Amino acid sequence: MTPPDLPAELRAALDARLQGLSRSDAAERAALISRNYRDGGNSGAIASEEDALAYALARMPATYAAVTASLNALCELRPDFAPKSLLDVGAGPATASWAAAETFASLRSFALLDANSALRALALDLGRDSTRLKQITYHRGEARAALADAAPADLVVASYMIGEVGDAERSALAEQLWAKARDTLLIVEPGTPAGYRRVIALRAQLIASGAHVAVPCPHDGACPLQAPDWCHFTQRLPRLRAHMQVKGAELPFEDEKFSYVALTRTPVARHPARVLAQPIVSKVEVTAKLCSAEGLRIAKVPHRDKTTYARARRWRWGDATMD
Ligand SMILES: C[S@@+](CC[C@H](N)C(=O)[O-])C[C@H]1O[C@@H](n2cnc3c(N)ncnc32)[C@H](O)[C@@H]1O
Repeated sequence: MTPPDLPAELRAALDARLQGLSRSDAAERAALISRNYRDGGNSGAIASEEDALAYALARMPATYAAVTASLNALCELRPDFAPKSLLDVGAGPATASWAAAETFASLRSFALLDANSALRALALDLGRDSTRLKQITYHRGEARAALADAAPADLVVASYMIGEVGDAERSALAEQLWAKARDTLLIVEPGTPAGYRRVIALRAQLIASGAHVAVPCPHDGACPLQAPDWCHFTQRLPRLRAHMQVKGAELPFEDEKFSYVALTRTPVARHPARVLAQPIVSKVEVTAKLCSAEGLRIAKVPHRDKTTYARARRWRWGDATMD
């Protein structure tokens, strides 16, 4: 399992760029950027080197943790998956590239694609001395056009990106992302109802184009959740000092909510079910919300069923189960 916190090499690269950066200036920039996102804006508000660094300080730890959690779920199901090439679309500061590099020692080449020049400069700067991000190539520009020049990769990731693409363009982009995925396509979005709806629409579209779900769903059928419910997961991550300063936060951790799907070209043997919320554990029973090929069910595992109860006590939100 890859831990959710930024790897030491990336932390050191970020720290080196923080020298001389005013924390209050970075906090103001980060607040403006996140207000812009909340108001439905996009990464266009990240316009300078300082903005890019403020964004990375405020958000990279959380998006890194969400991508890592998604890749961990994928690896649990497919321990033999050993991609050699990665295409990171909407790479920003190269968050998903770092997460994939930590997860897959097999990766030999990293192709990054983004339209934002401030984030591009930061991604290349952070990766320059990395022992993990090797053979970096960069496709600069709007995704639909830039993808035409990108080579297919074993693993394609679009992390916190498709929400920035207009509704009209999203399905054409999804087909392009899928066309570039030699083996697996991973989409990660914020764990909001809107983020989930984007993931689920793309999932249905690409299943119709021949994709198979690897994780998190234990089936290729329609999502059984009914609004206002939505499928999302949560990952706790530590907040480092600069991270806390930039966010004006007091707690030394945060919980990032995310929705995701990993799609593969060939079907994989899936776990029977996935835990969709934190189970309630009592001395009498474990109550858990599970998604399975048969649909949604609330499992109640009584204490008297000793072996299954002992297993169910350890279930966490997001886990795959064998029951
Ligand atoms: C919220 S950031 C996420 C960055 C990174 N993937 C992460 O998870 O931390 C979204 C990124 O997608 C890029 N992006 C959004 N729409 C794009 C498009 N149509 N073409 C290229 N890049 C795009 C933005 O420039 C930005 O870097």
